[in-house]
Amino acid sequence: MTEKEKLRETIGKIVDPSNEKSLADNEAIRHLAIDGKSVTLLVGVANENSDEAKKTLRRELAKAIKRDLGYEGLKLDFEPLKKKDSILQKKNVRYIGVASGKGGVGKSTVAANLALALKRLGKKVGIIDADIYGSNMPIIMDMEIRPPKANENEKIIPFNKHGIELISTEFFMEEGKPLMWRGPMLSKMLEHFFYDVDWDEDTEYIIIDLPPGTGDVAIDIQRFIPECRMLIVTTPHPSASRVAVKAGFAAKQLNHSILGVIENMSYLKNNDDILRIFGEGGGKEVADKLNTALVQQIPIGQPESGHHSLFGMKEELGVLYLGLANKLIKAVEKDS
Ligand SMILES: Nc1ncnc2c1ncn2[C@@H]1O[C@H](COP(=O)(O)OP(=O)(O)O)[C@@H](O)[C@H]1O
Ligand SMILES: [Mg+2]
Repeated sequence: MTEKEKLRETIGKIVDPSNEKSLADNEAIRHLAIDGKSVTLLVGVANENSDEAKKTLRRELAKAIKRDLGYEGLKLDFEPLKKKDSILQKKNVRYIGVASGKGGVGKSTVAANLALALKRLGKKVGIIDADIYGSNMPIIMDMEIRPPKANENEKIIPFNKHGIELISTEFFMEEGKPLMWRGPMLSKMLEHFFYDVDWDEDTEYIIIDLPPGTGDVAIDIQRFIPECRMLIVTTPHPSASRVAVKAGFAAKQLNHSILGVIENMSYLKNNDDILRIFGEGGGKEVADKLNTALVQQIPIGQPESGHHSLFGMKEELGVLYLGLANKLIKAVEKDS
């Protein structure tokens, strides 16, 4: 029996006082991770409104995990046992998180153009803009910022632009208000995005624009979608690549699989000249250090199509993104 199985068996016997059933019978152990001497646990509780039940469970779990089994740390979270319908229950949805070490490297631009290219290849795509600190997805997608509406089942209707469904933290903020969000609040927001948004039935890909860096969001993503694959965006410049490596390692530590590295703003084409404005080698360096592939170099370009940041199929970058989407579909769909 592995350490994890043993732990699962032990705490499975603990009884949820709100329905008098064991955690095992309730299938309540939603997420269990062991990191050295510390345990992370997400438990479904039958009556989520009962503080008494949560208190008892917290005490019993701590007793079993710390006193009886000798672990030093316990990070415990509860969620309602009966989950609402959620996109997370669907089998055929692939999640791609787009991450970077720092802002301004083109993470959101890459996420949006990748989503558009996937759509052009016939996929049903949604975007979650989770970059609370520097959300610019609505601008990139040429969208007005306004609060979303709910449908008759009180689910949030995502916006639809260019055939892509989109939900953004921006839509829930009051205009001009500074962002005072902290990890736990964003975690709630992500929960809404997964549980309370009426995503299209046939959604095949969800692209998640993550905040730059290595923060709590990656941990939340791990909690909701352990199978999320990560794309790391950097520029050729060391200031970006150094921190991109860190973001990549953080993702690795959380056991996310890394799809590869995208080097954005790689060069500028000027007739026949190639100008490497931001230096060179950043993408390759990040890929090597993370033991993954440099999947794409994207030059500096300006859309001619009248959009801020989205490239059309008559433009070189539009075609390039189509190639990238094709590569990623092959990589993602071959192993699942
Ligand atoms: N390949 C590119 N060529 C030219 N400009 C780009 C390119 N990629 C991104 N940009 C521009 O750089 C700025 C930052 O990009 P953005 O996607 O907002 O970065 P991030 O999401 O990483 O903060 C934006 O003004 C965007 O239009
Ligand atoms: Mg951005």
